[in-house]
Amino acid sequence: VRRKVVILGSTGSIGGSTLEVLERHEESFEVVGLVAGRRVERLAEQVRRWQPSAVSVADDEAAARLREHLGPDAPQVLSGPDGAASVTVDTGPDLVVAAIVGAAGLVPTLAAVRAGCVVALANKEALVVAGELMVHEAQKSGAVLLPVDSEHNAIHQCLRAGRMPEVQRVVLTASGGPFRGRSAAELASVSTADALDHPTWSMGRKITIDSATLMNKGLEVIEARWLFGMPAAAIDVVIHPQSVVHSLVEYRDGSILAQLGTPDMRHPIQYALTWPERWSAPSERLDLPAIGALTFEEPDREAFPCLDLAYGALDDGGDAPARLNAANEEAVAAFLDGGIGFNDIPAVIESVLAAEAVTTPGDVAGLIDADRRARRSAREVIARELSRR
Ligand SMILES: NC(=O)c1ccc[n+]([C@@H]2O[C@H](COP(=O)([O-])OP(=O)(O)OC[C@H]3O[C@@H](n4cnc5c(N)ncnc54)[C@H](OP(=O)(O)O)[C@@H]3O)[C@@H](O)[C@H]2O)c1
Repeated sequence: VRRKVVILGSTGSIGGSTLEVLERHEESFEVVGLVAGRRVERLAEQVRRWQPSAVSVADDEAAARLREHLGPDAPQVLSGPDGAASVTVDTGPDLVVAAIVGAAGLVPTLAAVRAGCVVALANKEALVVAGELMVHEAQKSGAVLLPVDSEHNAIHQCLRAGRMPEVQRVVLTASGGPFRGRSAAELASVSTADALDHPTWSMGRKITIDSATLMNKGLEVIEARWLFGMPAAAIDVVIHPQSVVHSLVEYRDGSILAQLGTPDMRHPIQYALTWPERWSAPSERLDLPAIGALTFEEPDREAFPCLDLAYGALDDGGDAPARLNAANEEAVAAFLDGGIGFNDIPAVIESVLAAEAVTTPGDVAGLIDADRRARRSAREVIARELSRR
């Protein structure tokens, strides 16, 4: 029997890599649902190739364009967060790949968790916004969360060597992004194109900017908190420019286990799709002598304040991580539009976090409301910044 798969964010970088992995193993998997945002031409191609029984896109306008592309052969086409959640649940998948970017992925990812699916999770923002709730719901439904993020996937692999009480800390590696070694003053004038030029990984635009600011690592610290049930004090970050060691686990006797590999997201995706088995893969092997040396250094927390903003939000708890994430999404979008400068990204987030006291919403609606308030507040801060120029 083929395992039924839904891909949330199929038109993106992770979505595309997931379909490449599935292509290698078509005898074992069947794509039953696809969810995307607005790139309907790409989605239409995927629908023709994979024949899912239902699809969903960001909104009604995109749905109309998709129907036009597909003509009379279109499967059921839904839209919006509820449409994405319906596709996720109603197609009855065994496995859901959660790879929508941003808090937009929260509703369908949570639906997959509530339905008790195996969830291959790339959409770290969903866990940042609602980690506690997501873990609680997974315990209730029996859903399994498998990390696709290469760092957490590495930790998941290293944890198979021991038991949780034996773990002392986890160490997330970070490439340091394109601006490693630059001072805050130098960062003030970097361009969007410079920030999009990642040294080791090829990814979607938002996560590429997050890598440049180190917010990506901050979001990953929060993600690790919930995925592995570790306190923030036991989650460390080290800069490792070669991106060969994907992350490490230190056990209580001082032993450190690391997972190494080429920077290719098809590795962690296939690991999650085939877990608890490990299948062979054709991808490129590491050539250790050619790499020669692996280096590690402390992150520069002054030039890249986003990392500590994330640790701070995790420490504050409640809706603080949701507001941190929303403010970051708005600030990164404004930076990508060329509106604000690179150093304005942490400044916007800091103002948004400071504008409200932390509250603890009891449900997902409360977290979505915190997200909305933070976005409004971020847009005001950004507009003020722009009018000052
Ligand atoms: N890329 C990587 O190597 C990598 C590594 C680790 C973790 N991740 C995480 O994986 C997630 C996806 O990253 P990515 O790099 O693949 O991003 P991406 O290339 O920008 O793709 C994002 C996907 O989300 C879809 N989407 C956006 N808004 C949506 C909405 N409102 N409703 C439904 N779908 C929506 C997009 O659809 P359209 O394009 O059709 O609009 C696209 O399919 C992020 O959370 C990222 O942090 C990525």
